[in-house]
Amino acid sequence: MKRYLSAIKPTGKLTLGNYIGAIKQFVTLMNDGDMILFVADLHSLTLPINPEELRNNSRNIVAYYLAAGLDPKKVHVFLQSEVHEHSELAIILQNYLYMGELSRMTQFKDKTQKMNNEAIGLGIFTYPVLMAADIVLYDTDYVPVGEDQVQHVEITRDLVHRFNKRYGDILKMPRALIRQSGARIMSLSDPIKKMSKSDPKGDIFLDDDLKTIHKKIMSAVTDMDCRVCYDETNKPGISNLMTIYSALTNKSFEEIEKEFQGKMYGEFKKEVAKVVVDEIACLQTKYQEILASGLVDKVLKEGKEYASTIAEKTLKRVQNAIGLYRYE
Ligand code: TYM
Repeated sequence: MKRYLSAIKPTGKLTLGNYIGAIKQFVTLMNDGDMILFVADLHSLTLPINPEELRNNSRNIVAYYLAAGLDPKKVHVFLQSEVHEHSELAIILQNYLYMGELSRMTQFKDKTQKMNNEAIGLGIFTYPVLMAADIVLYDTDYVPVGEDQVQHVEITRDLVHRFNKRYGDILKMPRALIRQSGARIMSLSDPIKKMSKSDPKGDIFLDDDLKTIHKKIMSAVTDMDCRVCYDETNKPGISNLMTIYSALTNKSFEEIEKEFQGKMYGEFKKEVAKVVVDEIACLQTKYQEILASGLVDKVLKEGKEYASTIAEKTLKRVQNAIGLYRYE
């Protein structure tokens, strides 16, 4: 059986980008193999975060996973920090990735470019090591993610190759899995930039009130051309709205172009807003029900047990391979 593994970091609020690029993909894949999902709470410590916010965000992500339709009978969900093997394996694996390659990672460069070296925590630098540990710990086949995380999966593959060359066939080679369209949802106010948790103007947050969502879509930046057709280079705003619409309706770009042929942008935006608002309204209702039901704690407890059993075995296999004492 194929194993899928992925995670979301509990920094800031979840966005429509997280929902389309990651969560909706998880829902589609859930019947296709063993799915393990977690909340990457250790990764969220790489930039300053308030403890209460971290605790709340972590639980909220689990509630959103379930509200989006992930079935707890089929999917295992846990908190990264509750399975100590992630940290232990990362300490080992840090010896198989190098300073040069870590300093060239896009995320590291983006997040630290305006920072003084004296203020850059080690965790943001070694972020890909922990992420590699997350992935290989579960003998993962596929890592469903948005486009921005592909580089992290690629460096994990380099590590696996390096490690196995030295010790034999110990770690499973993972692969990133991204959606054909929707792997990179762009900001509504600046469609050249990715929609991210730290951009309140261009983002749609999953907990935004519905009127705000409608307003943000109606005022999304577009172009002067007035044709609804897909052209990422010359019409990034319209192309982004088409991507969102397509991801939520399963209509192809050709179908969307036909549907809105000869119509004004205003009409198209209204339809996109309606589809997004309907989807998020439904999500928000289920999310509130789940938070009130106590299901989150139950799911996390079961998820931790399931994950720990697998993680323990892999860590022992690695310890044994590299010559550390094996506690058995
Ligand atoms: P994070 O929390 O930044 O994002 C969670 C998921 O959402 C996707 N995503 C997007 N997809 C499309 N368009 C966007 N605008 C957009 N913004 C975010 C991300 O690609 C991701 O799939 N490092 C990871 C968390 C992590 C992880 C892992 C993931 C830790 N360990 C192991 C997979 C496997 C992160 O920070 O994702």
